[in-house]
Amino acid sequence: PQPVLYEAEDATITAGVVESNHAGFTGRGFVNYDNAVGSAVEWTVNAATAGPATVVLRYANGTTTNRPMNVSVNGTVVSSGLAFAGTGNWDTWQTKTLTVNLVAGSNKIKTVATTANGGPNADSLTVS
Ligand code: GCU
Repeated sequence: PQPVLYEAEDATITAGVVESNHAGFTGRGFVNYDNAVGSAVEWTVNAATAGPATVVLRYANGTTTNRPMNVSVNGTVVSSGLAFAGTGNWDTWQTKTLTVNLVAGSNKIKTVATTANGGPNADSLTVS
């Protein structure tokens, strides 16, 4: 099946805002996580079959400080403190790829900031 792109601005946002003041995003904008521990974006993604899936998170971090996040799938942390390093500026987007196990049907993938800087700006999550 084709990869499916889920926009961050359409996901469930905890302590963050949708903005569009930096170039290069897809869709209507991106999520600016609040600069706080626990700011989060939760995507609801579909999987045709159970098993491993490749998840690509597109983000920008215009600072020189890593903005780590915990990634959970259906309530279980599958990647702790995943690094989202600086991308050079807020208009420069990079991707972070991980492999996660999904169940058939609906899944919740949540990215939660673990430092007081909050998360990076998040553009999208692509699942294949
Ligand atoms: C700046 C930038 C935002 C970013 C924020 C941050 O304000 O314009 O897009 O989210 O820094 O540090 O998180």
